Amino acid sequence: MLKKKILITGGSGMLAYDFIRTQGEEYDIIAVDREECDITSFESIMQCIALHSPDILLNCAAYTAVDDAEDIGMRTCFDVNILGVRNLAKATSVFGVEFITISTDYVFDGKKENGYLPTDECNPIGVYGMSKYLGERLALDENPRTIIVRTSWLYGGEVWVFKNFVNTMLRLSETRSELKVVADQHGIPTSCVDLSFAISLVIGRLDDLLDEGHNIFHFSSVCEEGSITWADFAREIFTLLWRNTKVIDCNSSEYPTKAKRPSYSILQNDLDTLLPDWKIGLARYLGKS
Ligand SMILES: NC(=O)c1ccc[n+]([C@@H]2O[C@H](COP(=O)([O-])OP(=O)(O)OC[C@H]3O[C@@H](n4cnc5c(N)ncnc54)[C@H](OP(=O)(O)O)[C@@H]3O)[C@@H](O)[C@H]2O)c1
Repeated sequence: MLKKKILITGGSGMLAYDFIRTQGEEYDIIAVDREECDITSFESIMQCIALHSPDILLNCAAYTAVDDAEDIGMRTCFDVNILGVRNLAKATSVFGVEFITISTDYVFDGKKENGYLPTDECNPIGVYGMSKYLGERLALDENPRTIIVRTSWLYGGEVWVFKNFVNTMLRLSETRSELKVVADQHGIPTSCVDLSFAISLVIGRLDDLLDEGHNIFHFSSVCEEGSITWADFAREIFTLLWRNTKVIDCNSSEYPTKAKRPSYSILQNDLDTLLPDWKIGLARYLGKS
């Protein structure tokens, strides 16, 4: 059978890296980075789609600097996450290409403690979350055959190389015997490898899901504990790697950041798809399974 052709924008990012690595056999994948396709340029996207004629466009491009989005990066954040996503939706609609874009738990305010469903009302509390939310809305307006995959606390790519929480903790533990880590924000870490698998399952049922009007999905790892904090996450990283760095719980107020983050952002999974437990994904990432 002919493989589906997927065009990935943001092709040099963390999620794109793991999607290509793990799903490369399943699909005919073409990944383009910002130089080849700048999503803030409608023309650039149109040319890229015309050149590659994909069945699906998977958008992994985003402005992800959550704190900088509050001030110095606000303009770029809006350009990429709102206008860029709208451009992609519009262009895919013109060509009749299915459009999948990735979003975040930060579209919620974190006040619901028992987990958010895709149908729950969004209420972002920071600029990045707002930009992702508006990008979602505009994408659905421009192309009703858009799929939005929301995920949380994402990590992946090469260990040490990509910018993510796990790699930050690894670097810090090289020189620090103690680390204060935030313990009043709850969420669920998700590995890009497991998310790639979930995206692939959605792709396998794309037509049915879209025909049913099912556009928004939540995917994060299973978490037996219900949710964990960043401090719990750091502890598990150090335990798996036999690092002696002691993790000291602290409150967000002791570690002020420019952006406010939701205190409980647990996504309830859709479909009957369960991703592996977060500890399993983490152990695999760190080469410990
Ligand atoms: N990381 C998380 O914790 C997390 C959590 C929930 C959801 N998400 C979402 O998951 C998705 C993937 O995130 P990620 O962590 O893989 O992001 P990432 O590693 O930061 O990758 C984003 C990519 O987008 C590219 N990009 C930025 N502006 C662009 C533009 N104008 N045109 C084309 N490409 C552009 C970047 O290229 P440059 O390198 O050239 O800047 C980068 O390669 C994003 O939608 C993000 O919002 C992330």
